[in-house]
Amino acid sequence: MLVIFDSLFFPNLTLQAGDDKKVGHLWRLKGARERLRLVKADLMEEGSFDAAIMGCQGVFHTASPVLGHPCCDPKAEILQPAIDGTLNVLRSCKKTPSLRRVVFTSSSSTVRAREGLVPSVPLDESSWSSTELCEKLEIWYVLSKTLAERAAWEFCEAHKIDLVTVLPSFVIGPSLPPVLCSTASDVLGLLRGETEKFQWHGRMGYVHIDDVALSHILVYENENAEGRYLCSSTVLDNDELAAILSARYPALSIPKRFEKIDRPYYELNVSKLTGLGMKFRSIEEMFDDYVEYLTEKGHLSSVIV
Ligand SMILES: NC(=O)c1ccc[n+]([C@@H]2O[C@H](COP(=O)([O-])OP(=O)(O)OC[C@H]3O[C@@H](n4cnc5c(N)ncnc54)[C@H](OP(=O)(O)O)[C@@H]3O)[C@@H](O)[C@H]2O)c1
Repeated sequence: MLVIFDSLFFPNLTLQAGDDKKVGHLWRLKGARERLRLVKADLMEEGSFDAAIMGCQGVFHTASPVLGHPCCDPKAEILQPAIDGTLNVLRSCKKTPSLRRVVFTSSSSTVRAREGLVPSVPLDESSWSSTELCEKLEIWYVLSKTLAERAAWEFCEAHKIDLVTVLPSFVIGPSLPPVLCSTASDVLGLLRGETEKFQWHGRMGYVHIDDVALSHILVYENENAEGRYLCSSTVLDNDELAAILSARYPALSIPKRFEKIDRPYYELNVSKLTGLGMKFRSIEEMFDDYVEYLTEKGHLSSVIV
């Protein structure tokens, strides 16, 4: 895996071109030749991040496996890279005297998979998903994010590392890499009329990809930021989402309804992040941007928004 750094924070790293298929789009970003450094590192390799992190003030730890359904061994495929990988990165942070803050990308799924949700009380950052429930339901990704964030808090408290975590809901918006990540392809499926993947998603919060990036910068730069930050614009049932999208993009064959599945109602309280000045883009803005991007890239036939 490759870590991306800004030379403002990481002036001493050697420039490595890497695999063009994987990182070519990064080198084509404005200012990349002057400000970008790519360093090869592996979450599962002890000490792999030492050289990359040495001399840094800020570390944004985002890498984690995002597989809806592991092929055979969830522990090896999802849990270990998420948890051990996080601890591996944090061990490198611990060796770095210049470090100011670590921002860790968690997930809103770490607050909502639990018993006893009260529909009238929006979930906030004090809530944690139940690891027992995750295991019972075999929701390995949710379990991996919950255990990884918990491990990060324990490690950073024990070693006095300034940690802030961002908990995005389902991320929507244009991708930089040419290959769509798994959640982006699920949304493409929905826009093409498939129900299978979105059936399973049920009720979900949504957030614009640029707002997720901005939130990471906001909590890094704001001295007063502390703890966990839910990062989400709107929570919708999948049939509410489909109704909004099919009315907005009539040229697409978006499913009109989904089979009702038994999922608890919840809302997310994001006042902690909006209290730092964050303003979230609407569901219409995030999908307009995503549909425009997919159309431009040829994933969707021409759509007028
Ligand atoms: N997409 C969402 O809706 C959403 C919502 C909430 C939170 N998040 C979080 O956001 C982060 C990025 O997710 P994404 O949706 O953008 O998915 P993604 O494109 O699949 O990104 C995951 C990244 O983690 C790296 N990674 C995975 N397994 C690894 C391993 N064993 N060793 C080294 N690197 C590994 C991948 O590197 P390679 O490409 O080299 O494999 C990739 O760069 C994740 O932490 C995810 O949990 C995503």
